[in-house]
Amino acid sequence: MDVMKAILTRRSIRKFKPEPIPQDSIIRILEAARWAPSWKNSQCPRMVVITDRKIKEEIGRTLAGNRAFEGAQSAPALIAVCAKMGESGYGANGPATEKGDWYMFDCGLAVENILLSAWSLGLGSVIIGHFDTPAVARIIDLPEGFALVNLIAIGVPDKNPEAPPRKALEQVSNLNKFGVKLEE
Ligand SMILES: Cc1cc2nc3c(=O)[nH]c(=O)nc-3n(C[C@H](O)[C@H](O)[C@H](O)COP(=O)(O)O)c2cc1C
Repeated sequence: MDVMKAILTRRSIRKFKPEPIPQDSIIRILEAARWAPSWKNSQCPRMVVITDRKIKEEIGRTLAGNRAFEGAQSAPALIAVCAKMGESGYGANGPATEKGDWYMFDCGLAVENILLSAWSLGLGSVIIGHFDTPAVARIIDLPEGFALVNLIAIGVPDKNPEAPPRKALEQVSNLNKFGVKLEE
């Protein structure tokens, strides 16, 4: 699938068909994450793929009240996106910028690659940012020195939702007003 088409047609999917994801597709999705850009190529993102029904249910319980609750329950796979801390955004003398650790940024890039590559393979997905992080970290046995950033539910879409509207280009850029500051 053409990249622009994938960007424009990808939607957050919150209900999945029960069919499993072929192993080959999982590997291609992880490859897409692996090839994401990262700070000085430091490659801090790590992906934990969860297909075990019991573990998925356990994780699902930490999402009570989340819009993606049903999606997490019905998805054949969850990916927990984690980061090795203290690598992204650092130089020889500590943090290279005033922004500190750039792990969220690098994980975001890996996540977008995951979503778009999944969609190019006919698989829907949703990012899950709101859940009981310490509980899920325990469930996946996250080692010391790593942060759990987000979950992604992936599977064959059972619903194809309408695109939620986006702000106009003029609102999110200085299109037609080069040299003029951005508005709120
Ligand atoms: C950092 C982040 C966290 C998110 N967390 C959740 C979440 O916890 N539950 C959920 O249903 N959707 C979550 N989403 C999905 C957004 O709601 C969704 O991307 C947005 O509404 C735009 O819809 P679209 O992805 O279909 O274009 C999250 C998205 C991002 C980028």
